[in-house]
Amino acid sequence: MSLVTGARIERIVILTGAGVSAESGLNTFRDAGGLWEGLDPMDIATPQAFARDPALVYRFYNARRNQLAQVQPNAAHRALARLQAQFPGEVFLVTQNVDDLHERGGSPQVCHMHGELRRVLCGVCRAGAAAREDYDARSRCAQCGESGGLRPDVVWFGEIPYHMQVIGAQLARCDLFVAVGTSGVVYPAAGFVREARAAGALTVEVNPELSEVTGCFHQQRRGPATREVAVLVEELLGS
Ligand code: APR
Repeated sequence: MSLVTGARIERIVILTGAGVSAESGLNTFRDAGGLWEGLDPMDIATPQAFARDPALVYRFYNARRNQLAQVQPNAAHRALARLQAQFPGEVFLVTQNVDDLHERGGSPQVCHMHGELRRVLCGVCRAGAAAREDYDARSRCAQCGESGGLRPDVVWFGEIPYHMQVIGAQLARCDLFVAVGTSGVVYPAAGFVREARAAGALTVEVNPELSEVTGCFHQQRRGPATREVAVLVEELLGS
């Protein structure tokens, strides 16, 4: 099924979820064997969980950050980077992922709406910093020198995702919206397809399975991101 639309595509918004990194070996959240299997996200990914058991939260995020060194970007990350480099119009990449595989796959612009594993935030002075090694309650903030306040710079359930104004503006003016590897369970990201449709964009979902919002998309590309994203990028660059 090709992307034959007739309409000129000049502005593309790409939303990625954990599925785009699955073939790099990073577990998704809700697939079999996923990060949330056997874990209640409310025990890990909330400010209340961090207050209740900071050691558990530090262990979870330090382990995920350390795992980044063991994995590599895959063909989907590289295809998206090629689209950003070669597409004659605009491409805006927004990801729910907190890994660094889009950057390491060559993407020049990545909007991390849920934050990044490679960064920490100081709960005392709010300064952000790179997380180059494991940290915990004894770690000191490089900015204010206080310990006990460092937390993963990751957006938890109940917190406001980053860059929502920029994302909303991009969705309001895009001609094509592509969601890659997301279950459509978590808002506000799951609602982006409706915003893009309201703006008149063609909407395409890339996922080997049905998502919670599959019915909102004009087109579905049923298959793994490494195959389907590469095909889609070829079509877009060829067109
Ligand atoms: N290619 C494309 N999609 C894939 C692949 C693949 N190889 N493998 C799995 N998928 C799809 C699954 O079918 C599923 O729809 O990726 C999706 C992963 O869904 P989730 O695990 O729910 O991940 P995501 O949608 O990114 O979760 C959203 O939930 O817990 C929060 O903050 C967390 O950002 C995360 C948010």
